[in-house]
Amino acid sequence: MTHRHPPCTVVAWFAILGCAVLAQAVTFEVKQGNSTCIKAELSASLSITYDTASGKSTAQVSLPDSAEVDVASSSCGSDSRSPWLVVVFGVGHSLGLGFSTNGVLYSVANLTLQYNLSDIALFPGANSSDVVTVVTSSVGMVATVNTTYRCFSSTSVLVDGSTVTFTDMKLEAYMPGNDLSPKSVCTADMSVTTPVPTPPVPTTAAPAPSPVPPGPPERGEYIVNNDNKTACLLANMGLQLNVSYLSVSQNKTEQRLLNLQPNQTTHAGSCGLTSATLVLSQEGTMNLTFTFSLASKLCKVWVRVRVRNSTSNKYHLSGLALSAVWPDMAAPDTLVVSNSSLEYLRSTLGRSYMCSSEQSLAVADAFSLNTFRLQVQPFAVTSNQFASAEECQLDQDNMLIPIIVGAALAGLVLIVLVAYLIGRKRSHAGYQTI
Ligand SMILES: *[C@@H]1O[C@H](CO)[C@@H](O)[C@H](O)[C@H]1NC(C)=O
Ligand SMILES: *[C@@H]1O[C@H](CO)[C@@H](O)[C@H](O)[C@H]1NC(C)=O
Ligand SMILES: *[C@@H]1O[C@H](CO)[C@@H](O)[C@H](O)[C@H]1NC(C)=O
Ligand SMILES: *[C@@H]1O[C@H](CO)[C@@H](O)[C@H](O)[C@H]1NC(C)=O
Ligand SMILES: *[C@@H]1O[C@H](CO)[C@@H](O)[C@H](O)[C@H]1NC(C)=O
Ligand SMILES: *[C@@H]1O[C@H](CO)[C@@H](O)[C@H](O)[C@H]1NC(C)=O
Ligand SMILES: *[C@@H]1O[C@H](CO)[C@@H](O)[C@H](O)[C@H]1NC(C)=O
Ligand SMILES: *[C@@H]1O[C@H](CO)[C@@H](O)[C@H](O)[C@H]1NC(C)=O
Ligand SMILES: *[C@@H]1O[C@H](CO)[C@@H](O)[C@H](O)[C@H]1NC(C)=O
Ligand SMILES: *[C@@H]1O[C@H](CO)[C@@H](O)[C@H](O)[C@H]1NC(C)=O
Ligand SMILES: *[C@@H]1O[C@H](CO)[C@@H](O)[C@H](O)[C@H]1NC(C)=O
Repeated sequence: MTHRHPPCTVVAWFAILGCAVLAQAVTFEVKQGNSTCIKAELSASLSITYDTASGKSTAQVSLPDSAEVDVASSSCGSDSRSPWLVVVFGVGHSLGLGFSTNGVLYSVANLTLQYNLSDIALFPGANSSDVVTVVTSSVGMVATVNTTYRCFSSTSVLVDGSTVTFTDMKLEAYMPGNDLSPKSVCTADMSVTTPVPTPPVPTTAAPAPSPVPPGPPERGEYIVNNDNKTACLLANMGLQLNVSYLSVSQNKTEQRLLNLQPNQTTHAGSCGLTSATLVLSQEGTMNLTFTFSLASKLCKVWVRVRVRNSTSNKYHLSGLALSAVWPDMAAPDTLVVSNSSLEYLRSTLGRSYMCSSEQSLAVADAFSLNTFRLQVQPFAVTSNQFASAEECQLDQDNMLIPIIVGAALAGLVLIVLVAYLIGRKRSHAGYQTI
C-alpha cells in the first residue's frame, strides 16, 4: 500500500533532491519520418545568474525528467537549416544544441539557453519577467561522423554568465541508424585538450603562457596494402603538426605544436599507378592525408630528349590536407587546410626517400608539418620492404659536417707533422754550425 501511494512529503523531498543533486539522464530523439538523426542521453544542471532588486542571484536547476523535445523547433536539418535539438521544460525554459558537420567530423556548433524569469519558483525576486535567450558557439564537443560523443566526466559550457554542466552524456547527430553508434569519443578527456573555457579573461590580465613545446614525436610505421594484401606504400616517420587557430579561451590566434602519437593514430590509404594516398586519423579530432604523385608526363618529355625510359620516373609528395578539431577552437571550429601543389619528398621510382633530419613542410599559413626520421616509398614496393634510399639534402649536409671535421683534423695532423719535421731539420742544421 505505502509503496503504491508514497506520502507526499517523500515525493517533495525527492523532487527537491532531484533539483539540487540527482540530475537524471533523460533521453531525447529528433526524427525525420521513421529515422532518428539526433539522439541524446544526458543529465544537465544549469546555473543561471539573474538580476534581483538587491543585486545578482544564482538559480540552480537540473534538467527534469519531464523535459521533452520541442518538435516544432527541432529538426534534422535541410539545405537551409542545420540539425537542431531543442528541449523544453517548465514554463518556457529551453536548452538547444545546434550541429554542424564537414562530412568527416560533426560538432555542437552552438548551445542556446532560454529561461523565463516570470517563473518565480525558480527565480525568486527577479526584477524582470522577461524570457532571456543566451547563445554560445564555444561548446567544444566534436566527434567523427558515425561515432557517439560520450563523456563520463562532466563538461561545463559557459554561456553568457550562466553555466550548463553535462554529466554522463551520450550524444550523436547525423546518425547512420536509429541507435547510437557503438564507437565513442570524448574531447573533454583527450590529451590535446586545453581546460574547458573559463570565463573571459579580463583585458588587464597577463596573457596565459604559451604551451610547452613537445619533444620530438615518436616514429610511426604505416603500411598501406593493395587488394592482394601486399604492401604498396610504406612510411616510417615521426610527425609534428605546427598549426595556428583561433583559441576560445585565449581569444586570439594560437600557435600549437602537436605530436602525432602513433598508438593513437589509425591509417588507411590507396595505391594507384600514378598516385597514392595515406590517410592518418585520430578518432574524432584529426585527419591528415598525404598524396604522392608519379610524374609520368615529365617522363615522356625526358624520353624524347634522352632515349632512356623508366628509370627516370620521379615521384613526390604533391598534396597534404588536414582537417582537425580541437576543443578550444573557436567557430567554425574545424581547421581545414590543404595544398595540392606541393613538391616535397622527391625521389626516383623504384627507390625510397629518406630524411633522418627534421624537415619542415610548409602547407599553408595556418599549417606546416614537421617530419622526423622519415622514410617513405609510395610506389613500386616489392616484398614489403623499402628499396634503397635517396637521402634528402639536409642529411647530406649533416654528413658533410663529420667529413669537414675529419678533413680539418687530418689537415691539423699534417701541419703538426710538417712543423715537427721542419723543426727537426732546423735543429740538426743548428748543431752542425756549432
Ligand atoms: C514508418 O514505420 C511504419 C511502421 O513501422 C510504416 O508503416 C511507415 O510506412 C513508415 N514510414 C516511413 C516514412 O518510412
Ligand atoms: C513565462 O512564465 C509565465 C508565468 O509562469 C507564463 O505565463 C508565460 O507564458 C511564460 N512565457 C513563456 C514564453 O512560456
Ligand atoms: C547554431 O548553429 C547552426 C549551425 O551552424 C546555425 O545554423 C544556427 O543559426 C546557429 N544558431 C544560433 C542561434 O546561432
Ligand atoms: C534589474 O536590476 C539590474 C541591476 O541590478 C538593472 O541593471 C536592470 O535594469 C533591472 N531591470 C529592471 C527591469 O528593473
Ligand atoms: C557513416 O555510416 C553510413 C552507414 O553505415 C555510411 O553510409 C557513411 O559513409 C558513413 N560515413 C562516414 C563518414 O564514415
Ligand atoms: C593481384 O594478384 C593478381 C594475380 O596474382 C595479379 O594479376 C594482379 O595484378 C595483382 N594486383 C595488384 C594490385 O597487385
Ligand atoms: C611553426 O610555425 C610558425 C609560423 O609558421 C613558425 O614561426 C615556427 O617557427 C614554427 N615552429 C616549428 C617548431 O616548426
Ligand atoms: C576578443 O578580442 C577582440 C579583439 O581582439 C575583442 O574585440 C573582443 O571583445 C574579445 N572577446 C572577448 C570575449 O574577450
Ligand atoms: C601510447 O604511447 C605512449 C608513449 O609511448 C604511452 O604513454 C601510452 O600509454 C600509449 N597509449 C596506449 C593507449 O597504448
Ligand atoms: C618507354 O615506356 C613506354 C611505356 O611504358 C614504352 O611504350 C616504350 O616502349 C618505352 N621506351 C623505351 C625506349 O624503353
Ligand atoms: C601551396 O604550396 C605552394 C608550395 O609550397 C605554395 O607556393 C602555395 O602558396 C601554397 N598554397 C597555399 C594556398 O597556401
